[in-house]
Amino acid sequence: GITRHYKFDIKLQKVTRLCQTKSIVTVNGQFPGPRIIAREGDRLLIKVANHVPNNITIHWHGIRQLRSGWADGPAYVTQCPIQTGQTYLYNFTVTGQRGTLFWHAHISWLRATVYGPIVILPKRHVPYPFPQPFKEVPIVFGEWWKADTEKVINQALKTGLAPNVSDAYTMNGLPGPLYNCSAKDTFKLKVKPGKTYLLRLINAALNTELFFSVANHTLIVVEADAVYVKPFKTQTVLITPGQTTNVLLRTKPKAPIATFLMAARPYISGPVSFDNSTTTGLLEYDKASSPNDKNKKKEKKNENNKLPLVRPALPKLNDTSFSFKYNQKILSLANAKFPAKVSKTVNRKFFFTVGLGLGPCSKRQACQGPNNTRVLAAINNVSFVLPNTALLQAHFFNKTKGVYTKDFPANPPFKFNYTGNPPSNILVNKGTKVVVLPYETSVELVLQDTSIIGAESHPLHLHGFNFFVVGRGSGNFDANKDPAKFNLVDPAERNTVGVPSGGWVAIRFLADNPGVWFMHCHLEVHTSWGLKMAWVVLDGKRPHQKLPPPPSDLPKC
Ligand code: C2O
Repeated sequence: GITRHYKFDIKLQKVTRLCQTKSIVTVNGQFPGPRIIAREGDRLLIKVANHVPNNITIHWHGIRQLRSGWADGPAYVTQCPIQTGQTYLYNFTVTGQRGTLFWHAHISWLRATVYGPIVILPKRHVPYPFPQPFKEVPIVFGEWWKADTEKVINQALKTGLAPNVSDAYTMNGLPGPLYNCSAKDTFKLKVKPGKTYLLRLINAALNTELFFSVANHTLIVVEADAVYVKPFKTQTVLITPGQTTNVLLRTKPKAPIATFLMAARPYISGPVSFDNSTTTGLLEYDKASSPNDKNKKKEKKNENNKLPLVRPALPKLNDTSFSFKYNQKILSLANAKFPAKVSKTVNRKFFFTVGLGLGPCSKRQACQGPNNTRVLAAINNVSFVLPNTALLQAHFFNKTKGVYTKDFPANPPFKFNYTGNPPSNILVNKGTKVVVLPYETSVELVLQDTSIIGAESHPLHLHGFNFFVVGRGSGNFDANKDPAKFNLVDPAERNTVGVPSGGWVAIRFLADNPGVWFMHCHLEVHTSWGLKMAWVVLDGKRPHQKLPPPPSDLPKC
């Protein structure tokens, strides 16, 4: 591989959307941010210089960071934030991965505007395991707030109430024509007939899973989270925040006399408030390439008025059964070239409940729940609190006292009917607890949704690893019956998985990457409320199994 250099200047930029101008935090003044392109095996050196009043860090979501944990980016986990006027050089090599990922700010809610695509091409002369596309197009979904998102989350944390929702969803930063005052801010994809396009879909929205569909066109899913999958056809893609999906779109053999809408709008499984609006872009056929005369005549007729706009049908907002079936279709290629390296044996089993709950509320805060409680989110009733220093430094220099404890529970503190009527005595507690794993532990983790405040799908993201989704079910996980049905042959390999609303998923990963690795719900509001934890993976015995010391420019807290 080669070394590629990027410079990320974090600066404020005035941007106008929905007829309102505001100053947002950006990379190099761009919104969405610049695209990072590399080939498998390349080294990336990305110098981030902070010119804004906010502290910042950047995370390379889905990059494995094999023995380069200092470059992973989550604030207070692998590094202290880059303060105003400071720089930090992110230095990592892309090993054993190719596909679509993305980068985003990883502190507070700054990723609302600080994000962009990562495209990892296969090594030179290595083809895709699907038809070579004519063109590749990243489409990043996001959310647009008229308000300052830092104020939105800080206010919510102060009052204990749910934060305000966004004012629009966006495609490549553009809300599209279904929003007021937004027609000129529309993403347009111009296509030629009879060609194959590779759409690199990325969900960078803060808080919303999205359905995506293109009117009158079938999509073929070929990759998820930068791992090739068994290709399958679908009208609609479902994508959670933190997930990426590559789809092939084959254009019609002749340019039709119509423009097609590409649309994305929420899949909502939980009780939290949301915006049910739709972001749309236009799929426009190149008229010049319209081959037959009949079409040309029709086109002339249409010259002065707009071509008819065809809208796609999308599943209903709460279509949990679509979600379940769609996710079951995502399977590893599992062939000789791209084997599914799922561990057949397991060293340690964990059972984590994930969901919202009520927990302690300090006197200075407004407490919305009964008996001085407020809404928090937790894993095994631990609502995780980030320390004032970085977990990875504390671990590496063996100064963990007062930073974290090693007693994150492997199982929930109480057994109850997780997806039924919640018991009244299940309070969550705040803490900074981690799980310590010896090098190369083979982990099996069951993630169980709870309905303490309401069942809801949670897109759980693990840093530092890909994992295999070996099982999925509705209701409560049954440790006696369900493991027999686990798929150890061709399970999906991902970095973010939706824990089904009112159900569970089982994942497996091999802890072969020393460091401290964050795991959290990629719905930012849930992360803010504490739905997060960290795994500490110890060094192996041999030199190449150890985490090297930190770079000299690693920011200090
Ligand atoms: Cu995409 Cu911890 O994040």
